[in-house]
Amino acid sequence: MKLKIIVGSIRPGRAADPVVAWVRAVAEQHPGFSDVEVLDLRDWRLPLFQENLETIGDLNDPTYSEPIVKRWNQTIASGDAFLFVTPEYNHSIPGVLKNAIDTVWLSGAFRNKPAGFVSYSYGLAAGTRAIEHLALIAIETEMVPLRNTVLLPRVPGSFGEDGKPVDTMAHVALDILLEDLDWWTRLLAQARSSAPAPGNSRIMDAMAKG
Ligand SMILES: Cc1cc2nc3c(=O)[nH]c(=O)nc-3n(C[C@H](O)[C@H](O)[C@H](O)COP(=O)(O)O)c2cc1C
Repeated sequence: MKLKIIVGSIRPGRAADPVVAWVRAVAEQHPGFSDVEVLDLRDWRLPLFQENLETIGDLNDPTYSEPIVKRWNQTIASGDAFLFVTPEYNHSIPGVLKNAIDTVWLSGAFRNKPAGFVSYSYGLAAGTRAIEHLALIAIETEMVPLRNTVLLPRVPGSFGEDGKPVDTMAHVALDILLEDLDWWTRLLAQARSSAPAPGNSRIMDAMAKG
């Protein structure tokens, strides 16, 4: 199963780095995920979303306005599961992450795949409100957001010299999240291959019929 870890912060000196390194190392050890890839939005300089039906072209093989947008949609489509690592900006997710999610447009690449969430903050809030927003966004993209999360306050000060959180509960939380993600990933992959989900243009189709 292919796991894509999507990183929500791109700014120089970001606190994301120790979190991503730890999450990636633990995920790579998990037997459920043969292929773990970090999708760092620093490396994916996506344009601000501005697609419309003209830029999409053929709906079955959308072209989009720029090749990187097409590549991003294809890369997301190749994933079986997603793990978002994000800080909280103004009680939500960073705009760059929302833009990356919006850019997966009309390709259905997130559809019926599980999403797990790891959040962190410099202070005590641990990014809780960002995850609350992200879970709602995930529903709209037709991902399956998971209930169990990893919340890391006081990053990077809460990481030891070994590059791992000093709080043992953080390790327990990540193990639980990966266990849930593995279960949902296998279940949903099987469901996607055995019974295609109903199309999501049903309301439009019904309206067109009058
Ligand atoms: C634009 C901005 C908005 C922020 N808003 C919040 C917030 O709403 N809640 C919070 O707990 N921390 C907030 N913070 C503090 C972040 O938790 C802290 O800066 C963290 O290091 C951000 O992650 P990053 O360094 O990986 O970008 C904010 C930081 C920035 C730069």
